Amino acid sequence: MPGTCVIGLQWGDEAKGKLVDILTEDHDIVVRYAGGANAGHTVVFGGQTWKLSIIPSGILREGVDCVITGGVVLDPAKVIEEMDGLESRGLRMHGRLRISDRAHVVFPWHVVEDRLLDGSLSDGGAIGTTGRGIGPCYRDKVGRSLAIRLGDLYRGDFRDKVAHVASFKNRLFASWPTNSAAPLDADEIHSRYAGYAERLRPYVVDTTAHLLDAVEAGRRLLFEGAQGALLDIDHGTFPYVTSSNSSGLGVASGSGVPGRWVDRVIGVLKAYSTRVGGGPMPTEQDNATGVHIRERGREYGTVTKRPRRCGWFDAVAARYSARLSGVDELAVMLLDVLGGLDELRICSAYEIDGRRTTQFPSQIGDLEKAVPVYETLPGWREELDAVRSERDLPANARRYVDRIAELIGRPVSIVSVGPDRAQTIIRDPEATRRPWHPQQPANA
Ligand code: IMP
Repeated sequence: MPGTCVIGLQWGDEAKGKLVDILTEDHDIVVRYAGGANAGHTVVFGGQTWKLSIIPSGILREGVDCVITGGVVLDPAKVIEEMDGLESRGLRMHGRLRISDRAHVVFPWHVVEDRLLDGSLSDGGAIGTTGRGIGPCYRDKVGRSLAIRLGDLYRGDFRDKVAHVASFKNRLFASWPTNSAAPLDADEIHSRYAGYAERLRPYVVDTTAHLLDAVEAGRRLLFEGAQGALLDIDHGTFPYVTSSNSSGLGVASGSGVPGRWVDRVIGVLKAYSTRVGGGPMPTEQDNATGVHIRERGREYGTVTKRPRRCGWFDAVAARYSARLSGVDELAVMLLDVLGGLDELRICSAYEIDGRRTTQFPSQIGDLEKAVPVYETLPGWREELDAVRSERDLPANARRYVDRIAELIGRPVSIVSVGPDRAQTIIRDPEATRRPWHPQQPANA
């Protein structure tokens, strides 16, 4: 039985965790297929807040299994910390969580390397990583000779492997002019990670085989994207991206489950844009509008607590990432945050070197030069947090959502007006074929 995939269409933090949590009801297994502890998911229900980084948010629903696949880079300390936190709040992990023996492991040297290397782009800029060692771990995976996978932690030569890599990294770091870190202690690292391996042993399996068996047995999978499509290593705003395929393209390679098993792709968008870290963001509002969005939307990083850069909705970027991820329908999140603004803007084209285009540029230099071409729409004053149906949305809010759907060319099936599960408007499939605001002419 085919599955569902939830993909962020911007630069991450699109509130995918909330959506995954809602959709989990209709699925048997929630699958995390890329990234690592750089992601942060917040789910609120029943007055309680749950913050997850690497364990899929499906863990909050009894009866649903969760899988962390081999496409993920795994910091065992972080997973264990998260497991302990969930268990202390009464959630059962055992028999429900599976972690791939193919997952590459984040070691202390990756975190050192992340700190040393960020900021060394040739133009002096910084990617502004989360500092969790994600990029260096993926770099070692691709390089192979210094890589250690979770399955390796159970092999007799694990101690030798750690000694080999630690000695190589120590020589590398010693030659680094800005390095002030103490040399890595291979014995200490080995014994700490051997401890993690024991704690994780009951959960470590071949998740590819497990998932292939599951789809053949008719179990419904829900693939949970991390970060956003614009941070995709191959198709995002390189080099200001993360190190994995965070768009929908990463589902198959990260999980080992062919794309033909996914028959519903939901693209998740904030009603505006945010970005953390470096890199161009054409619609950024470094002004009162940006502050309004940041404060109402509580736009501070879940993982790093950094204030997020905020701006108007960018339909050029969103249309590109929706096409890239094969999106069927859209979920527009955080619509309530835009309340109280007299006018709203949507970027519907870029001007680059005096030429107007609706194509998202492949080269970072072009994106840096892009001047947004805005449409202005009327705002609304009403608070939306108590709205539970499409009918009760202010007309201008419906008009705004409709315009997003038109510009991207995909229907909006879900709108979120607050962090709680209950603050969600889900349209029936028939209704998604109609515009939200029937007075709005198509392609206006
Ligand atoms: P890294 O993934 O830690 O290497 O960071 C690379 C870039 O991706 C930086 O700009 C980060 O801020 C951004 N990034 C990584 N994970 C997330 C996320 O979950 N949400 C938003 N941005 C992220």
